[in-house]
Amino acid sequence: LKLGCLISGRGSNLQALIDACAAPDFPAEIALVLSNKADAEGLERAKAAGIATSVVNHKEYADRDSFDAELDRRLRAAGVELVCLAGFMRLLTDGFVEGWRDRMINIHPSLLPALKGLKTHERALEAGARFTGCTVHYVRPEMDEGPIIAQAVVPVLDEDDAASLGARVLAEEHKLYPLAVRLIAEKRLSITGNRITVTGDKN
Ligand code: GRF
Repeated sequence: LKLGCLISGRGSNLQALIDACAAPDFPAEIALVLSNKADAEGLERAKAAGIATSVVNHKEYADRDSFDAELDRRLRAAGVELVCLAGFMRLLTDGFVEGWRDRMINIHPSLLPALKGLKTHERALEAGARFTGCTVHYVRPEMDEGPIIAQAVVPVLDEDDAASLGARVLAEEHKLYPLAVRLIAEKRLSITGNRITVTGDKN
């Protein structure tokens, strides 16, 4: 399965996918890494792994439609079959999202549908949650909504601050994203409304 990864920054989830794809039995490869920021650290990670990169600077486009059209064009030109949002900090237009319906996934640092949006770890602590985690889901036009593919639960500890909690969640993200990609590549998911069933579980 050919992946196109959209990033804006650090790219640690991208790195997890790069590492997963390096295993000979992993059923996916990264065809293109696209960033809206030329200085995104993730671009260096991709280059170091010999993966094609491309920058589409949103500031050079008059509106979101023309920016998204350029993203779409480059993804299709690279033969991308599954778009993986990995810390991509731009909202995508409904047209783009519909064009990649059931072929675009996102990783979010909370147990959706709780804590959509930004600053999830700060808000988990503020709310006194005992557990939080991360979610990989198919993308729908509404932000952080869509069928949930996989989640991992992480405990909140008494001594946590946002940084320590975020680091514990991030370690789980790095396992969860490759797992979700594998399930898709092996065609083991079926989507009915918001619900996903996994077939062929080996345990
Ligand atoms: C991650 O926490 C991810 O869940 C969120 O943005 C962050 C990206 O981090 N969507 P990185 O760029 O993958 O290191």
